[in-house]
Amino acid sequence: MGKKVTVVGAGFYGSTTAQRLAEYDIFETVVITDIVEGKPAGLALDLNQSRPVEGFETKLVGVTTGPNGEGYEAIEGSDVVVITAGLARKPGMSRMDLLETNAKIVRQVSENVAKYAPNAVVIVVSNPLDEMTALAQIATQFPKNRVLGQAGMLDTARFTNFVAEALSVPVKSVRTLTLGSHGDTMVPVPSKSTVNGKPLRDVMPAEQIEELVVKTRNGGAEVVALLKTGSAYYAPSAAAARMAKAVAEDSGDVMPVCAWVDGEYGISGVYLGVEAEIGAEGVKRVVETELDADELAALKEAAEAVRAKQGDVASM
Ligand code: LAC
Repeated sequence: MGKKVTVVGAGFYGSTTAQRLAEYDIFETVVITDIVEGKPAGLALDLNQSRPVEGFETKLVGVTTGPNGEGYEAIEGSDVVVITAGLARKPGMSRMDLLETNAKIVRQVSENVAKYAPNAVVIVVSNPLDEMTALAQIATQFPKNRVLGQAGMLDTARFTNFVAEALSVPVKSVRTLTLGSHGDTMVPVPSKSTVNGKPLRDVMPAEQIEELVVKTRNGGAEVVALLKTGSAYYAPSAAAARMAKAVAEDSGDVMPVCAWVDGEYGISGVYLGVEAEIGAEGVKRVVETELDADELAALKEAAEAVRAKQGDVASM
């Protein structure tokens, strides 16, 4: 049987993720759900009509879900579920300002995912990301490797884009890395960043690297401030869709993701942005890379910051 992926939430993040997943043409079915009457069905109808033009066979199904789990039968048999449900930031808000509201939504969605798609790998993108990922694991009771969050790929993509723009080089020639949280304790890793294979620090002055690190940390907020309604979705959906693809294809690709950390970097018992090998079972393995002393210290600091908040979500 062909692969099936579900995207929960038909806002811009969800609908662009569904579009990217369908256009990969590797799934038999992409299900998109939302609590808004008609919207997911309308989007699915529209996307299906793009199939002859874009040349993909994947079928989209749009379903409105109810407060008591009505409609969730449609997600049965999903190999992957991407949870985008929840509110996005408004200008001036931090991701953490969404904690209580989105916790209620993500818990309810997760419980239905556990009921109707008990074998799925769950990819969380709702904010605050690290906390919502932890909550989805608690609410689904899935093994920790089968619940992960999207943030590191997005933050890394932003950092890479800013470096490429600053140096006027193709994005392909730049490699960067960001770890830690999807928030104030994001940890960009200049020591693992290169331009045409040369260390970033050899081709860019330290002050400029720091400037781009700050710009990366504020990458989401900068978009929110400009859009005024809602947050970024093109780069976020690109990252989330790649993760779902890696799961569906059991690719073993190493990506920065929000994963359960159990001893790596001397950190345990927390969902944190790290590099991991992604496959059919979700996180196959957290990949530990050598960090500078200050980068490692920042990662440990990020772990303690998110640990405190992740403790809070258990009761939300
Ligand atoms: C961002 C939001 C989606 O970083 O977290 O744009």
